[in-house]
Amino acid sequence: MNAPVTLSPDSLAKIDKAVAKYPPDRKDSAVMAALTVAQDEKGWLSTETMDFVAQYLGMPPVAVYEVASFYTMYDLKPTGKYKLTICTNLPCALQGATNTAEYLKKTLGIGFNETTPDGRITLKEGECMGACGDAPVLIQNNKKMLCAMSNEKIDQLLKDLK
Ligand code: FES
Repeated sequence: MNAPVTLSPDSLAKIDKAVAKYPPDRKDSAVMAALTVAQDEKGWLSTETMDFVAQYLGMPPVAVYEVASFYTMYDLKPTGKYKLTICTNLPCALQGATNTAEYLKKTLGIGFNETTPDGRITLKEGECMGACGDAPVLIQNNKKMLCAMSNEKIDQLLKDLK
């Protein structure tokens, strides 16, 4: 039997800090922050990790699964070393994001939610990232926003992501 999942003291302190922002009977309000912390530590969210978060926040596991499966920044299976999420919502699509997504797929040889065979890059489709004026927009590993991504900039990015 596998050892039960837990998180590092550092991650637990971050979750406690998020929980402290809400009334004591609303610990579940910190679920998105807790899932982000858990994913940052583990790399992705296994069922066991989500169960741990549920238990830590005193929530039914299914409520945690619902949140984790709704938002595209959470990964329910392992990803490559780098995750590139491209916004394909309408304002970005009208500014070339659809072509950019096709260029990424063709260049990487993978589709959305797939990882290159060398485990380097996972490609995902995302929702509006609040930077519609800077389309096409990518987010790298949920943290770094990349704007106005021309094909030339994509070529450079893919070279840089070793
Ligand atoms: S629609 Fe793409 S960032 Fe807003």
